[in-house]
Amino acid sequence: MDSVAAEPCRWHHRAVALNQVPIAGSFFEQLRTIRTDRIGGLRRFNDEGRDIGRFAFVFGDVVLVNTPEAVHEVLVTHAKSFEKSPILRAALHPLAGQGLFTSEGDLWRRQRRLMAPLFQPSALRGFADEMTRCAERAVATWRDGQVLDVAHETTRIAMSVAGRTLFDIDTFDETDSLGDALTTALDWAAEESGRMTLIAQARFKVALERLADRSPARLADRLRGVADRSIEPIMWPSARTRELRAALDRLEARVARMIEERRKSPGDRTDLLSLLLAARDDDGSGMSDRQVRDEVLTLFVAGHETTANALAWGLMLLAQHPEVYAELRREVDALGRAPTFDDLPRLDLALRVFKESLRMYPPVYLFGRIAVADVSVGGYALPKGTVVLVSPFSLHHRPDVWPDPERFDPGRFTAAEEARRHKSAFVPFSAGPRTCIGNHFALMEGPLVLATILQRADLSLVDPRGAQPEPSATLRPRGGIPMKISLRR
Ligand code: HEM
Repeated sequence: MDSVAAEPCRWHHRAVALNQVPIAGSFFEQLRTIRTDRIGGLRRFNDEGRDIGRFAFVFGDVVLVNTPEAVHEVLVTHAKSFEKSPILRAALHPLAGQGLFTSEGDLWRRQRRLMAPLFQPSALRGFADEMTRCAERAVATWRDGQVLDVAHETTRIAMSVAGRTLFDIDTFDETDSLGDALTTALDWAAEESGRMTLIAQARFKVALERLADRSPARLADRLRGVADRSIEPIMWPSARTRELRAALDRLEARVARMIEERRKSPGDRTDLLSLLLAARDDDGSGMSDRQVRDEVLTLFVAGHETTANALAWGLMLLAQHPEVYAELRREVDALGRAPTFDDLPRLDLALRVFKESLRMYPPVYLFGRIAVADVSVGGYALPKGTVVLVSPFSLHHRPDVWPDPERFDPGRFTAAEEARRHKSAFVPFSAGPRTCIGNHFALMEGPLVLATILQRADLSLVDPRGAQPEPSATLRPRGGIPMKISLRR
């Protein structure tokens, strides 16, 4: 794809000023795209062959980088010059506090160090059977000939996997207060992160920080203090806010009770909550109850809806591609039993189907960073404070990186094909130091759940066109995916 028509200039010689990048559309067009047509906007971005885009808002520039190389620079090579976008951090704060997803600096580094061993593939072995069992329990409630929304079913499965692996509890029952409260809080955060007031607050924070950089030390400290407080979401009194507060109170109470139980009698539980409570840093220190609360809620939020949507898209794509479906059925039937951790190497196609679904419908379709220093990316000079967006959705649909990008083809994920591609061409889990800590977890849950379902039922689409992607907290299927169930004997 062509770059913009600015002065050609390789970044290692001299970076091009950001204002050379033409602004993508008028202000109102941009606003309409953000509010009502994000996926269309990202598709057009590729249609126009853009490597980089600039969106000028009243509050400042936002840049979208769209080549594997530039994405790699933002997430990996120059990761130290970026922090997470303050907008999502702020919107998630009431729910996820200072958990791994939202924290920065020393706190994030310590937490990542403490938690990384819990998410290594070998440490996840014990969770495989839970994943299979949760899928079996869902299928056991299906009736032959029934039409079901598979997006709803995969949410039930992913929610129950999260409940069992995190807390050793059953969230299968939809009336479970934890699951309900989480969904309320997550939807609130998704809505909040698109709100203009929060975007304005984020820009105001950047402006204050810039002013602090140029001010004498004492004034600078005060300005930074104001800047930090300026980004908290404004909770106007309303029914929506009351609902959020009630949901948060329920979550607090339930998680506090579970922490207290485990602190009193640790026993030999192996759920992630117990492992977090037992985790010790090099100096022997552990996490406070508050930190553990933030981490488990972060894991619940980050882990269940993303995986649920990826599974739902996977089932839809399989039903639309009978030849792949039949091949996968042969693979899962050859196991001759419910899939286990040791069967994962034999679920090669299941894994490739899951990855191809993550390519076509990446649940985290867009995420942001903010430059904390002047930095050049893709040949452009980005001043400190620039908001940079990475869209796995647009990157995964670039025709020069993914030929015929609308075609479902699990063959793209053979070891040989993966080795041929740029490392950052496929970033459903992001990349670099802040890459998803749950990626092995998800890449295990995906194939195990797909295999368990296909061993027990055949699914066909009610509407062969399937569903359209709807960008919300994650990329959800609009209106769900109704599918007809035929139970297998
Ligand atoms: C298909 C499923 C999943 C997808 C597509 C996904 C995607 C992502 C992405 C893109 C990020 C980086 C976001 C950013 O940098 O702004 C991320 C971070 C994270 N994810 Fe996942 N995720 C998935 C499953 C999970 C699971 C199962 C867990 C936990 C059990 C999890 C926990 C986290 C956490 C804690 C972070 C923050 C890591 C950090 O900043 O150090 N995710 N995920």
